[in-house]
Amino acid sequence: MGALALAVRIRHDLHTRLLDARARTDELFRVVREEAIYDRPIPERHRIIFYVGHVEAFDWNLLGDRAFGLRPFHRTFDNLFAFGIDPVGGGLPSDTPADWPARDEVESYNRRLREELDRAIERALDRPVEGHPHLIPMLEVAIEHRLMHAETLAYMLHRLPGERKIHATERAGWKAARAKSHLVDIPAGTVTLGLERIHGDEFGWDNEFGAHEVETAGFAIENHNVTNHDFLRFIQAGGYENPTLWSEEAWDWKKKENIEHPVFWKRDGNLWMYRTMFGEIRLPQEWPVYASHAEATAYAKWLGRKLPTEAQFHRAAYGTPDGVRERDYPWGNEAPTAIHGNFDFQSWDPSPVGAHPGGASAFGVQDLVGNGWEWTQTEFAPFPGFAAMPFYPSYSANFFDGKHYVMKGGSPRTAACMLRRSFRNWFQPHYPYVYATFRCVED
Ligand code: AVJ
Ligand code: FE
Repeated sequence: MGALALAVRIRHDLHTRLLDARARTDELFRVVREEAIYDRPIPERHRIIFYVGHVEAFDWNLLGDRAFGLRPFHRTFDNLFAFGIDPVGGGLPSDTPADWPARDEVESYNRRLREELDRAIERALDRPVEGHPHLIPMLEVAIEHRLMHAETLAYMLHRLPGERKIHATERAGWKAARAKSHLVDIPAGTVTLGLERIHGDEFGWDNEFGAHEVETAGFAIENHNVTNHDFLRFIQAGGYENPTLWSEEAWDWKKKENIEHPVFWKRDGNLWMYRTMFGEIRLPQEWPVYASHAEATAYAKWLGRKLPTEAQFHRAAYGTPDGVRERDYPWGNEAPTAIHGNFDFQSWDPSPVGAHPGGASAFGVQDLVGNGWEWTQTEFAPFPGFAAMPFYPSYSANFFDGKHYVMKGGSPRTAACMLRRSFRNWFQPHYPYVYATFRCVED
């Protein structure tokens, strides 16, 4: 095959990946019963109907409008569905279902938009030397943006009551091969954060670029994530009533929202129950606890420990005993598969900790990638030399505000392409709905 033919084929793979990503979000919206499509399962976020339009309007605004200059056919929807909301400060949204268009109007907008985009994408990908200079990264942005929403929408649908969902099958039968959790010593070493811009080919979001080395001193880290069982002991020891464990802000939030346990948990008389994606079960003791950054920080403080920094996470996950060599993934350099962890839509809920020994890091630390994002104590901030993407300037820059913290790793609903080492996720410390867990370190 000639170089040009090869280039064309690689480019067409991007279109296939976009179609696969669409199948993911389509699958997710099919979980929502017709009568629930205007529901707002998370008070701080938009109604579900917004996201039906958003994942498509985003592609249109980026690709249809910016990359291809296609003629707009529905400017109202292009704008209405352009941006989601990040619940920073202030009150809750107060719109009503009647403020939103009918679902079939949104669906027909989506259908037309996909047809026009698909035609333009095919045409453009046939001609590798012409067209928009950023077309390839723009396609990657469309793919990953949609896949991220496939995950954040899952958090949202997790909050939707069971009777408003069409139940999909749950994967079960993980083996709980759990040895007792312990601290693992990680010797001092060098880690590389971020992606090198000159390699050029590899896609990364703006916040990933600016590769730089960080020296980490020796520390110790828990080989397993904190489990529901562990976290219950914190609750029983009065952790939620002890103001010395919480920042002032976190304390006020907890009081205002009446938070007494992770939002995935439920009290039923004197039983602890757990809200899975489609049901309710007795609290699974061996699952990683899904908790907010504030809850994770309080737990760590209770034990006289801390959350890892972003660099410490890298060291434990990707480093090796010699302190110099680094891996692409905790288990080595092979692409992720199901033996390495619980990710890439394998499951709607976590597996027990330690169920994926094939994914252990060089230090024997388990489940670092998959089964829940891991909170760090590192504020989300730009790497040296940060430059926003010209075609999506607000992606990260809007969140460099000292109010968001870095999460690393990935959850059961994180697509395989975003399990790369440099990928950084972020949320506010009080946002409790995320598939995020943690483990503690001792310096
Ligand atoms: C990177 C997951 C924090 O959902 O707020 C989606 C991703 N940005 N649309 C979010 C995102 C714009 C973002 N996170
Ligand atoms: Fe979005």
